[in-house]
Amino acid sequence: MDNRYFILILILVGIITMMGSLFFSLIVGFFLVKVGVDIENIDRFKIHVRMENNSFLSKIFTVKELEYCYSKSNPAVHLAARYSGKEAVIKALTSIDALIPEYNHIEILNNGRGVPVVSINEEGFDNYKFNISLSHCDDKVVGFAVVEK
Ligand SMILES: CC(C)(COP(=O)(O)OP(=O)(O)OC[C@H]1O[C@@H](n2cnc3c(N)ncnc32)[C@H](O)[C@@H]1OP(=O)(O)O)[C@@H](O)C(=O)NCCC(=O)NCCS
Repeated sequence: MDNRYFILILILVGIITMMGSLFFSLIVGFFLVKVGVDIENIDRFKIHVRMENNSFLSKIFTVKELEYCYSKSNPAVHLAARYSGKEAVIKALTSIDALIPEYNHIEILNNGRGVPVVSINEEGFDNYKFNISLSHCDDKVVGFAVVEK
């Protein structure tokens, strides 16, 4: 092969590689994905469920969340699950260095299929996407969150 063609091919391969790595670093730089996880004891919430006009519950949960949890036979389980979900969201946001919303501005409600969905009722979170999963057993709950920016 003529040397000039060989050099031209080398230059083209170099340019394509550089553009590829530039594109990759832009994608990685623009889209941040972080996770957060939290585990809670259900017992901690049983005490609060028994208290009337509980200020702790209204500081942490939205009216809709409280309605959902109190519609269940054991509200403490569902309160604890949502609390761990909020903690998981906060952990993921902290690792992005994002603003941290008030607990009762983070709302976790299930969609029609039972899947928990996060919405942040505070300005500054339009560019964030949240995914969450909750689980409970006899005495503990777990929340796991993925935040994309
Ligand atoms: C979805 C499923 C895996 C949940 O298993 P599970 O052991 O009952 O769940 P856990 O106790 O670990 O966790 C409960 C949490 O899971 C979440 N959850 C419930 N259904 C869910 C679903 N379909 N997808 C994702 N998350 C779900 C909720 O946040 C729930 O918390 P909450 O009760 O406080 O709202 C189980 O119910 C299942 O296999 N269902 C079959 C599919 C089905 O029947 N879907 C319902 C259609 S209406």
